[in-house]
Amino acid sequence: MRAGGGRSGRFNRYNGGQSPSNTGKATMFEKKAITSTPVNDLLARRWSGVSYNPDRPVEADKLSACIESARWAPSCYGAQPWSFIVCDRSRDEAAWQAALACLVEANRDWAQHAPALILALAREHFQHNDKPNRWAQYDTGAAAISLCLQATDLGLMAHQMGGFDVDQSITAFDVPAGHTPMAMIAIGYQTAQEDVPEKRREREFAPRRRNPLKEHFFFGAWGKGS
Ligand SMILES: Cc1cc2nc3c(=O)[nH]c(=O)nc-3n(C[C@H](O)[C@H](O)[C@H](O)COP(=O)(O)O)c2cc1C
Repeated sequence: MRAGGGRSGRFNRYNGGQSPSNTGKATMFEKKAITSTPVNDLLARRWSGVSYNPDRPVEADKLSACIESARWAPSCYGAQPWSFIVCDRSRDEAAWQAALACLVEANRDWAQHAPALILALAREHFQHNDKPNRWAQYDTGAAAISLCLQATDLGLMAHQMGGFDVDQSITAFDVPAGHTPMAMIAIGYQTAQEDVPEKRREREFAPRRRNPLKEHFFFGAWGKGS
């Protein structure tokens, strides 16, 4: 199914009429956005699933590509105020456990199956003059979505989380003052569709939704429609 194949407000049913993206292996299923107009396929395919395959680590070169994509995100003054702490279970079990322990219970419940957890942080002051950087969090978000999109392109799933203990993450990872932990990102391969546990099926197979365009997108002035 092509992004843009449905009218605004509609959604595709879980795997309805779609084939797994890894042909031959039932490892991936898609929940493509049904957009009001065609958009880039990668954007439509990115989504935040909660069913990871714990037995399939992320290859080092794929993880590298994800962080390289974040590195090349745009930023105000080119300041690159982001930092990412990569906790790859196959390389550093202790760091991964520390990251997992920071998550709120509801996130830990599913993220414990993600082979890599990445903490995204924003540097609150410009390095060159130490003035407050009010775009730091904005830029860090841009870097994070670059990482997520690269993950999608590589057949991985990335899921950002705000539900974690910020203070605990600062302590666990020796984060220096002036850097604010923003999000934890789970990354890995999906489980096969049939292996999604019963307790997660409803959420995992629920349709993806967005508010109508007119609620957030204006033309020429606040609240003005097209
Ligand atoms: C900054 C941020 C924080 C989020 N926090 C959580 C979280 O703590 N737990 C969770 O399950 N999902 C979290 N999400 C994922 C959102 O719920 C998800 O992006 C949203 O429902 C839209 O779904 P989609 O990403 O599949 O399009 C977060 C996403 C972002 C960008």
